[in-house]
Amino acid sequence: MIRTRIIGTGSYVPPDILTNDNLSEMVDTSDEWIRTRTGICNRHIAKDMDNADMAYNAARNAVEDARIEASKIGLIIVATSTPDYAFPNQASLVQAKLKAVNAMCFDVSAACSGFITALDIAASMLKAGSYKYALVIGSEKMSEIVNWKDRSVCVLFGDGAGAGALVGHERGIIDSNIYNDGTGASVLTGGRRFSDSCSTDIFIHMDGQEVFKFAVKSVPTAIETLLHNNNMDINEVDKFILHQANVRIIESVAKRLKADKDKFPVNLNEYGNTSSASIPILLDELNRNGSLKQGEKLVLAGFGAGLSWGSILLVW
Ligand code: COA
Repeated sequence: MIRTRIIGTGSYVPPDILTNDNLSEMVDTSDEWIRTRTGICNRHIAKDMDNADMAYNAARNAVEDARIEASKIGLIIVATSTPDYAFPNQASLVQAKLKAVNAMCFDVSAACSGFITALDIAASMLKAGSYKYALVIGSEKMSEIVNWKDRSVCVLFGDGAGAGALVGHERGIIDSNIYNDGTGASVLTGGRRFSDSCSTDIFIHMDGQEVFKFAVKSVPTAIETLLHNNNMDINEVDKFILHQANVRIIESVAKRLKADKDKFPVNLNEYGNTSSASIPILLDELNRNGSLKQGEKLVLAGFGAGLSWGSILLVW
């Protein structure tokens, strides 16, 4: 059976770091509050670069890691909620920089579930035999839509990009389940409402506690369902690569699943919540430091605005 295998990973985070102490000079907060409530210590901020620059850097690293020629890529999907323009899409901007002249290009808007959604779509298209190689990127410039005067939100987010180069292969993605509940849309919103031309409100608005409750309930259920559908036990999974929003969410998911906490790698302490970029950035870190062994079973899981959530099971 043709599956989709990730044969290369890449990531990029901008060099400028905003620490918790820096933030405590901007709003009424403290390193202690942010660290204990979220696990976040730093976040990286794109000062002199666009979303497309970060996306391209991550994509180039993934293509180099996969050792494929850019001209062989048939599909580029960028997951983002913070594109540089309404149009053209981010994928076109990446295509031009990468000289991936033969790629079909489009973006996916699914917030923090964006990367797993884009990966799921790409996997279907590769499975159908439409393309041999594909590139899936999660890239976000969250600093553009963060209200730096709102302490309940500004401490959480950061900028960055991550990417995976994909090929049709006998080993790879086994199954996925992606869900959405649009009735929860108002719980987490961001960006300007286009029909309201006078509005200057481009910011993220969030009911933090509702999002927290939603995440710790929906993510374990999605993972349990995915494993059940594939006759797998929780202990057979080697690593759970979760969206990096809050370490307390990750710990709670591990507890509810009765899974070993050590199987849930975390890097949100350094980057904060980079939305659609968080899963591929973490995947790239693990790939490059040798933590991912061939044949390991991984579960990727995302959640966020929509409300949207879901999980993907794959063999590395
Ligand atoms: N520094 C200091 N105090 C802060 C603060 C900050 N950065 N942000 C909020 N507070 C205050 C609140 O004003 C409140 O004060 P009050 O008790 O005087 O009213 C108090 O801290 C507790 O606020 P609360 O919202 O109950 O905190 P919490 O424990 O729920 O933690 C979040 C807040 C945002 C960290 C937590 O709800 C969360 O992580 N939710 C999920 C958010 C998320 O992951 N979103 C993205 C999903 S993709």
